[in-house]
Amino acid sequence: MKIYINNREYDMPQDISILDAVKKANIKIPTLCYVEGMDPYGGCRLCVVEVEGSRTLVPSCAVKISEGMKIKTHSEKVRKVRRTIMQLIVASHGISCELNCLTCPKATSCELKTIAEEIGVTKINIPPVEKYLPTDFSSYSIVREPTKCIVCGRCIRACSNIQSVNIFTFANRGPNTIVTTFMNEGMGNVDCTNCGQCVMNCPTGALHEVYHIDGVWNAINDPEKVVVVQTAPAVRVALGEPFGMEPGTISTGKMVAALRLLGFDKVFDTNFTADLTIVEEGTEFIHRFKEGGKLPLFTSCSPGWIKFIEHNYPEFLPHLSSAKSPQQMFGAVAKHYYAKKLGIPKEKLIVVSIMPCTAKKYEMNRPELAGDVDFVLTTRELAKMIKESGIDFKNLPDEKYDDPFGITTGAAAIFGVSGGVMEAALRTAYEILTGKELEKIDFVAVRGLNKVKEAEIEINGKKIRIAVVNTLGAARKLLEKMKNGEVEYHFVEFMACPGGCIGGGGQPIPSTEEVLIKRMEAIYDIDYDSKLRKSHENPAVKKLYEEFLGEPNSEIAHHILHTHYVARS
Ligand code: SF4
Ligand code: SF4
Ligand code: SF4
Ligand code: FES
Repeated sequence: MKIYINNREYDMPQDISILDAVKKANIKIPTLCYVEGMDPYGGCRLCVVEVEGSRTLVPSCAVKISEGMKIKTHSEKVRKVRRTIMQLIVASHGISCELNCLTCPKATSCELKTIAEEIGVTKINIPPVEKYLPTDFSSYSIVREPTKCIVCGRCIRACSNIQSVNIFTFANRGPNTIVTTFMNEGMGNVDCTNCGQCVMNCPTGALHEVYHIDGVWNAINDPEKVVVVQTAPAVRVALGEPFGMEPGTISTGKMVAALRLLGFDKVFDTNFTADLTIVEEGTEFIHRFKEGGKLPLFTSCSPGWIKFIEHNYPEFLPHLSSAKSPQQMFGAVAKHYYAKKLGIPKEKLIVVSIMPCTAKKYEMNRPELAGDVDFVLTTRELAKMIKESGIDFKNLPDEKYDDPFGITTGAAAIFGVSGGVMEAALRTAYEILTGKELEKIDFVAVRGLNKVKEAEIEINGKKIRIAVVNTLGAARKLLEKMKNGEVEYHFVEFMACPGGCIGGGGQPIPSTEEVLIKRMEAIYDIDYDSKLRKSHENPAVKKLYEEFLGEPNSEIAHHILHTHYVARS
């Protein structure tokens, strides 16, 4: 289809929006309420353009191109209107925004600020709207500051379109419109899964994680405490981004060095307990498979997924693996085993987790799990601490993890991506069930960013049907099919976030599909480059069983490494 953009002719595919066509012509139109991959909402009007023959400016995200369309993207009229729209948005964005920008947690990733600068808004001529709405601190994971909300609706669409959880809604009309929850309840009192996808999509500081930074500094500065830190698999492929490094840069060694400079006494790897999780969960699967236990087995390491099933599908709770997540297993092993090794009471040992996930903050506080982990920092919070300390992250020489929880395998590394837990579990389950070495260890059918992946593998002549699901919206669809008897599996991996933990709610913003692909490729590179690629071959895990746990699923393992779940209304 022929169209004209700023007087130049372009050949464009049918059925795309003006915004997408203009992007193909390498021109950027500012957007606020638009989110790639979701239906346009057309609320902010910042993306307006001139279209010949149209009496009014049209929102480019919500209107499709047509044959011969003549579009002007940056005419004087368009630029003036955009500046006025932005002034109106800023004027309604809390009375003390100019001051807040100094302290706003999203200051370095605030799209509102960036776009205002890009479109040339240098002063606000419109009197600010005097509004103050109380900040919601009720959630363990997410803080909501409605005063900073610009009512773009992106959180509403992230929560409903991606996650099918529907926590947010618009209320009131016209200039009084606000975004709120059911009955204006706090986020800690509704069915929120703490996944943080609303935070990832919020263009302002109206949604952010609950910060644990001050608590971590206090622990580090307390001479009475031994502070150990664990780092999740997906953090190392994203932490470089806030320091200007390409998404997917593997910065494991720099991260370890930075954590030592921050003052942590020992730097350990959550990948160690990812290997331990596979041994425990794999053994549980084998037991259920052989003895006729509840199948399909559902993985249990994504706390957003756990809260989702507890609220929405309690009838499926017996399918969940009882194995704690790697974060919680690490905390339990540190407090029950490592503290003893150090000869200190467990109260003196502080466990800090670096996670790509906001739901991990909720997980550490669950009554069933409380006490294993003391603080959870997101990837973004760790970047803030490194910057606050003046550490030149990009130029740090690589350092190695401490023993004994620094020895890990490639199977653990892939926990960071959708399909990774399943692939790691299959590598172990196959060898244990058959007693033979698995020669082809890459289960490519479960890889990639597709929301649902299915495969069938044969072990000892029996077919095992597996599925891998990411996002809660896709989980809901699959569970409904299972309820209706449309599909049957033996083992299903569920992850709450797009692409798995690489797209977690605590990762650097933005986490576009392009960024996710780069992070995913880096995770598989770590696996390929690992000397050991099967969890049950991890010598440090074997030693932990010899010295402390006995055997997989033993009584002590059940006591400290397993948990239970509760139906939540
Ligand atoms: S949301 Fe953006 S504009 Fe508002 S206070 Fe924070 S940094 Fe400033
Ligand atoms: S954290 Fe997740 S479930 Fe909760 S409101 Fe945000 S997107 Fe919805
Ligand atoms: S909370 Fe954020 S994403 Fe949601 S409507 Fe307000 S500004 Fe938009
Ligand atoms: S980005 Fe198009 S109307 Fe908001």
